Amino acid sequence: MNLELNGKSVIVTGGSKGIGRAIALAMLAEGANVLACARGADALADLAASASASPGRLETLPADLMEPEAIRRVATRCVDAFGRVDILVNNAGSARTGEFLELDDQAWLDDWRLKFFGYVRMARAAMLPMERGGGGVIVNIIGAAALNPRRSYMIGGAANAALNHFTKALADEGSRRRVRVVGINPGPILTERLLKMRGALSGANPAQGDAFSRMTPLGRVGTPEEVADLALFLASPRAAFIHGANITIDGGYTQGLMG
Ligand SMILES: NC(=O)c1ccc[n+]([C@@H]2O[C@H](COP(=O)([O-])OP(=O)(O)OC[C@H]3O[C@@H](n4cnc5c(N)ncnc54)[C@H](OP(=O)(O)O)[C@@H]3O)[C@@H](O)[C@H]2O)c1
Repeated sequence: MNLELNGKSVIVTGGSKGIGRAIALAMLAEGANVLACARGADALADLAASASASPGRLETLPADLMEPEAIRRVATRCVDAFGRVDILVNNAGSARTGEFLELDDQAWLDDWRLKFFGYVRMARAAMLPMERGGGGVIVNIIGAAALNPRRSYMIGGAANAALNHFTKALADEGSRRRVRVVGINPGPILTERLLKMRGALSGANPAQGDAFSRMTPLGRVGTPEEVADLALFLASPRAAFIHGANITIDGGYTQGLMG
């Protein structure tokens, strides 16, 4: 299938590791031009090394997306480098686990500042450049915790639920501006973040380990590349009639009718 992504201008937030890195590399392999941002310069340099033979052009920008000014810089840099913004992949995010009575206001505010407001602000910064260029696509990488409330992951789950709503409401706004908006709700995906969250950094092959095999009905966790495949399809013109939808990729973890 030709995804028709060749030559598109793409922003991938949190593009240096995990799901964002897989999306950035897959976009570059399709011939898209990618601006990848994250805080750490080393991982961005590693991404650049991995992408050196790709047909697409990569720009990297160290940026902390907790800061509104950094978000404006990312959008401006994409226009300066590639002349336009066709696709935004909102992906940089993390939220802590913990006991409800021990997580204070600041913990909630800090985690929402990246995972919720980072997505809102980045979408606001990209929407007009997209409209000026004739339209675009926003892909929000959210999380299946939105659909599976648990006491131990309340901050992230609530942010994800809010982002599922935001995706649909933003699609309503995007309809007026030729901007298509979709969300992806991954279940457990084997990234640094999952390993940290599970405290499993010492496991020899945690993807095959018992703890991970029990996490989904399919008996394994997902890979960043599997999420990237879905993200690229949704961002592509092949998915032109998918708008305002939140799509789950979780190995059967979510068993409700809405997932
Ligand atoms: N892995 C899963 O099981 C899973 C499941 C559901 C949803 N998700 C969601 O998928 C997204 C990606 O997760 P992942 O597992 O791929 O995470 P990851 O491996 O930890 O990668 C996170 C990426 O975001 C960047 N980042 C973190 N904080 C940032 C900040 N303040 N400003 C800019 N960039 C920042 C990181 O680089 P720096 O640290 O250098 O900034 C890195 O590039 C997240 O939104 C997560 O909530 C993941």
